[in-house]
Formats: sequence, C-alpha cells, structure tokens
Amino acid sequence: MTTAGSTTPSTTTLLDNIGQLVTCDPSVGDGSPLGVLGDAAIVVAEGRVVWLGPVRSAPAADVHVDLDGRTVVPGFVDSHAHLVFAGDRAGEFAARMSGAAYTAGGIASTVRDTRAASDDELAAGATRLVREMLASGTTTVEIKSGYGLTVPDEARSLAVARRLTPETTYLGAHVVPAEYATDRDAYVRLVAGDMLDACAPYARWVDVFCDRGAFDADEARTVIAAGTARGLLPRLHGNQLEAGPGVRLAVELGAASVDHCTYLVDADVDALAGSSTVATLLPGAEFSTRSAYPDARRLIDAGVTVAIATDCNPGSSYTSNLPFCLAVAVRDMRMTPAEALWAATAGGAAALLRDDIGVLRPGARADLAVIDAPSYVHLAYRPGVPLVRATWKDGVRA
Ligand code: NIG
Ligand code: FE
Repeated sequence: MTTAGSTTPSTTTLLDNIGQLVTCDPSVGDGSPLGVLGDAAIVVAEGRVVWLGPVRSAPAADVHVDLDGRTVVPGFVDSHAHLVFAGDRAGEFAARMSGAAYTAGGIASTVRDTRAASDDELAAGATRLVREMLASGTTTVEIKSGYGLTVPDEARSLAVARRLTPETTYLGAHVVPAEYATDRDAYVRLVAGDMLDACAPYARWVDVFCDRGAFDADEARTVIAAGTARGLLPRLHGNQLEAGPGVRLAVELGAASVDHCTYLVDADVDALAGSSTVATLLPGAEFSTRSAYPDARRLIDAGVTVAIATDCNPGSSYTSNLPFCLAVAVRDMRMTPAEALWAATAGGAAALLRDDIGVLRPGARADLAVIDAPSYVHLAYRPGVPLVRATWKDGVRA
C-alpha cells in the first residue's frame, strides 16, 4: 500500500500517551498473545518501530504526537482480497437476500466487465478500495488477479496490483472462463503455462479456487506445481462451498494459508493442526452469501493458526473493512475479541509469511492503527462504528 507523508526519513516521532497498546508480541506487557501495555509510548523512525514501552521512560524525539489515551494496535493485515475488477454485482446480492444461492458462476459477470475496462479504470477501482482499507486501519493487503482469465488480462491485473502492494497473487485458476467450457484441460494448461509466464514477474503467490464449480484437486495440484516451479509461493481457496479436498491439499502442498474453511470435516481440522498452514477465515463472505459461518473455535481449540481477512470482492464479500469482519468473527464464529484482533494482525502476517508486520516491536514496520476507544475490545463491542482515528503506514500518518 502506498502512502505520502511530510516527515523526512531520519525524523524520530514519539507517539505518546497511548492508553492501551496492543503489540502482538507476547514477550511484552501482560504476557498474553496480544502483549498489551497500558500507558505506553512508541518511537518510530525510518519507517520502523525503534522503541516502545511505558510513557514515563519514553526517550525524546523530533516530533511529538499526543494520542490522548487512545488505543493503538498493529495495522491490520488483510491477507485475502480481490481488488482488481470492474463493475459490481449488487443485483446478485439483492437476489441472494431474497433466497437465491451463491455459486462460483457469478464470477463470470465480473470477468466480462473487467475485460472491457481500461487499465486506468482497473487501477482507479483498486486504488479506491486500498484507500478505504487504509481509512479503516489496514496497512498491508494481499491482492489477487482472477477476473481477467486471459493472458493479457491476468497480467495487467497483476501489474495494477503490484503498484499497490508487494503481496500479489496469481489466481488465473479462479474459474474456467466460458470460452474454455468444453475444454477445461486446455484452460488448465494455459494457466500453468503461457499465462503463468506472463504473470509470474508481477506475483509473489499462486492460488487456486479449489471448490465446487471451480477446480478439482488434480487441476489445483497442476497449477500450484507450475507456480512453485516458477518461484511463486502457494496458497489456496478451499472448502468455501462444500467439504471438498482444498484444505487437505493445501496442507499437503505446504501452502502458507488455506482460505475460507467454511465446511470442514475432522480430517481437515486434524491436517491443519499438524501443519504450519494458516486457516484464513473470511466472515464477510458468509455474511454476504448468507452461508453458515466457519467454526473458528473448533480450529483454535485444535491448535490451528487462524487469520481473518475481508475477501473484498464484488461477488461474495464487498467490504473493505477488516474491523467489521473482526466483529462478525467474534459474534458469529465464536472467537474472543483478543483472538479476533490477533487473527486480523499477527494472523494475517503469518498467512503471508511475514514477521515485520502485524506486530509492534523494535525493528517491525511502523504500521499501526489508532483506535478512538479505551480498549481494543471496542472493535468488536461497537460494530460498524468508525473507531479508527488514524492509520500510520511506514512511520507516516496515511
Ligand atoms: O473468495 N471463492 C472464490 N472467489 C471469491 C469470490 C469471487 C466472486 O464471487 O466474484 C471468494 O469468495
Ligand atoms: Fe477469495
């Protein structure tokens, strides 16, 4: 995500008078996974945290910002979003709210609109959503392709994404486009071949929608193997629409994350619990498709690392607001406010294999959100209220 600021690179800035500081570093503060400190301060310089601790021990700095007792949390890490597209699907949403079911087939209408859009229109749409995210405290976002589904349209989608974030994901295997409906093997060959060649220079990750109406396990294996052979890192969409093979395949392939996890059988939970694959839950999708919610409690109690992300996209989850998703996760997925905040910060970082974000400690990126409330619990306790007063990205107020 890009930001602009007025401080020079060597300026030190003291964020002072923080009523509650959540670090997500369990070695500080109360010893919980959130590492909570009361009456705290942070010093940032050159885009990094250089000091944090009690207000009374804070060193001098060039710039002093009084946060007046507010809460500070690590900037949210939105590890799953589809921001490069044109058009919207409000009609499809309204039909669902009148009883229609969500299917992967709706993706085709966004593919039509995206192919017809100019590069500038795609960039403007994605930039608008990144700005919305920054305003709600998100400082890192992963952005997928997947609405182009031709070689040039996937490549330009990723070129747009790459200008906005380093966390870019090649999702040529989102669905089989209409023109390949009678020869899906040819489409899989394209995704694993020429399309991958055109997209790999812009992507860090390779993803497949492995679910009913999208790709099966063998097809997913083919695409992921081709992507990893090109140096991309694997992640998967799995078990959104039914208890299919996606979760266990993700574990087998060593994916950093498997996303959705809405319908799980015991073997899925066991596989995740014995692995380093993060289960990324996307409550906005269940909210917007009126599906059952995933059972986060079951995963956490089994020892699985859980992240929460928005899945921001025009079909299944058109929200850019991670605090909203956090509140839904607490209300409907049996997470505590502490677990949900960890999942939306450190959990998202784990899903992206990053240790410099989602945490506040010396050396970490100075990415944080200032919450206009006396504690982080208010993020879930006051759903829908815009409590994020300010977002700092790379040590600069965004
Ligand atoms: O993550 N599940 C697949 N892809 C998106 C939905 C895309 C769409 O409906 O446009 C998701 O929910
Ligand atoms: Fe998705």
